[in-house]
Amino acid sequence: MTVQEIKNRFRIIGNSPQLDRAIDIARQVAATDLSVLITGESGTGKEVFPQIIHQSSARKHNHYIAVNCGAIPEGTIDSELFGHEKGSFTGAHDTRKGYFEVADEGTIFLDEVGELPLSTQVRLLRVLETGEYIRVGSSKVLKTNVRIIAATNVNMLQLMEKGRFREDLYYRLNTVPLVIPPLRERKEDIPLLFRRFSSDFADKYHMPPIKLTRDAEQMLITYYWKGNIRQLKNVTEQISVIEKNREIDAKTMAPYLPDNSISTLPALFRPSGADGNVPNELSEKELLYKVLFELRKDMIDMKSIVYGLLEKGESASPISAGNTRILHKLDNDLHKAETTMQIHPTTHVEEVHENVLKDNGISQTLDEKEREIIRKTVEKHQGNKKAAAKELGISERTLFRKIKDE
Ligand SMILES: Nc1ncnc2c1ncn2[C@@H]1O[C@H](COP(=O)(O)OP(=O)(O)OP(=O)(O)O)[C@@H](O)[C@H]1O
Ligand SMILES: [Mg+2]
Repeated sequence: MTVQEIKNRFRIIGNSPQLDRAIDIARQVAATDLSVLITGESGTGKEVFPQIIHQSSARKHNHYIAVNCGAIPEGTIDSELFGHEKGSFTGAHDTRKGYFEVADEGTIFLDEVGELPLSTQVRLLRVLETGEYIRVGSSKVLKTNVRIIAATNVNMLQLMEKGRFREDLYYRLNTVPLVIPPLRERKEDIPLLFRRFSSDFADKYHMPPIKLTRDAEQMLITYYWKGNIRQLKNVTEQISVIEKNREIDAKTMAPYLPDNSISTLPALFRPSGADGNVPNELSEKELLYKVLFELRKDMIDMKSIVYGLLEKGESASPISAGNTRILHKLDNDLHKAETTMQIHPTTHVEEVHENVLKDNGISQTLDEKEREIIRKTVEKHQGNKKAAAKELGISERTLFRKIKDE
């Protein structure tokens, strides 16, 4: 397949030289069995590359397994990857094949590879070097022939410095580095991506596609895009759904692009600048954003707890439908507060904080609320934290951290 054929087949938009180069490397390396490490910021489009490599390789008729290393609890990851013997731990009622056994002659994609626990890294290194592995609870050495592709959006060099990632494994994985550039470094692709997304969402929501005025397009091109293509896609979807007037100008666009004023300001105008007034105003604004950001993170955590419970149909859960409505409204108000602060940068933190909570009839802070939910759930399970974490839909690791914070 040529680079263009790959773009068509995998629906990849963009013509920047950096993107073409990444696709070309993927295409060439596919014919070999070399390990590939894909790096790039969150949302840059890493996920399609292992598929390109697998589909262009001689292994394409065998298994392709994608594993999100960050989503599997530390206690079960070895068993998921390498399998286990019957009775090797509580709950291991049967012998189970791991991905490395199932994907023999195929490809395994280890996404978020930086999240692998150190003990698993040792096992992985062995497979990479010799093709050998051992099921959990067994001593028999098994063999497999798997091609490994890994991806990460974290700085691996920093992880190694902190002792959280083995250097030998890093070099073994990184035989062929594939670097996916951030969107801000391939600005020429922004209008193309926007047009594709706006046309996709027009189809999805049965509305005419949104179009940009010249200033709005310029605004998109110069924006920082911390969340890269994923963020551009989300913004396009939000505007497509919300704005009645389908021609979007810069003024309409601005509230959809948060933080823009800070992250894209030239260094000269940042808080450390020489001018007395502007820097002060900006530091406060930055602080406000930080608080809002924390609040929003809490909201997301709480929402995942609530939805986790609702999905399981837990009527006896500590969350009532009323509380869910409050969460929705709170989320909305937070969004509004963020927009307000872009317009009035000197609004006070406490004021925003208190008003949002007061308007929603909540006297507790979100932190307190979340702890209360967790405490009640742990009580309900007579102190069994594993069961409580399961019910709340969060990992045991997160639960322990949250309890420890108290
Ligand atoms: N070149 C592209 N053309 C069209 N859509 C793209 C392109 N690159 C990425 N996307 C879309 O952007 C979104 C984010 O991409 P993806 O999930 O691959 O990000 P990622 O690099 O894996 O991020 P993370 O590190 O957060 O997992 C997806 O919806 C994907 O389909
Ligand atoms: Mg990803």
